[in-house]
Amino acid sequence: MTELPLRAGETGLLYGQEQQWAFGAALASALPAGSVLFLEGELGAGKTTLTQGLVSALGFTEPVTSPTYALMNAYPTPTGRVLHVDAYRTRHPAELYEMDLEELIAGSRLSVIEWGEAFYSDYPDAPIVRLLHKEGEPDVRQVERVR
Ligand SMILES: Nc1ncnc2c1ncn2[C@@H]1O[C@H](COP(=O)(O)OP(=O)(O)OP(=O)(O)O)[C@@H](O)[C@H]1O
Ligand SMILES: [Mg+2]
Repeated sequence: MTELPLRAGETGLLYGQEQQWAFGAALASALPAGSVLFLEGELGAGKTTLTQGLVSALGFTEPVTSPTYALMNAYPTPTGRVLHVDAYRTRHPAELYEMDLEELIAGSRLSVIEWGEAFYSDYPDAPIVRLLHKEGEPDVRQVERVR
């Protein structure tokens, strides 16, 4: 287990898809089984790209898709399942808890939750990573570890 690539409150820059991918891979190797990772970021900020890097680093090499319409995706990796949840349209956390979210998280290698503000207080140890576009630099993203 290595350290997380950013400390809480720190900000960094990711130059291109490759670095976005690598950042996801670094998160994967730093987060133990059963962990939650919260992801925030506007349209096109790189959430799926980061998740692809994370999941690939754990050994699942097929394409990762946005779970926006599925609510959650599960990727089987050799080290366990990665759960990918999009809570954007979930107005109340009960909706996902009724789908046994807690048990699913506990039984997963890692759970990536996009737009999961409603769950931040239930998972106080989970890092929150925010991705932002950088004005005038289409090939760069800013990454901030909010918590
Ligand atoms: N660090 C980066 N630098 C430059 N381009 C990037 C970077 N990260 C991702 N991209 C590119 O930005 C585009 C959008 O990325 P991605 O689909 O991962 O965003 P998203 O946050 O998942 O968007 P959505 O909200 O639509 O699901 C892709 O073409 C991707 O290759
Ligand atoms: Mg996406």
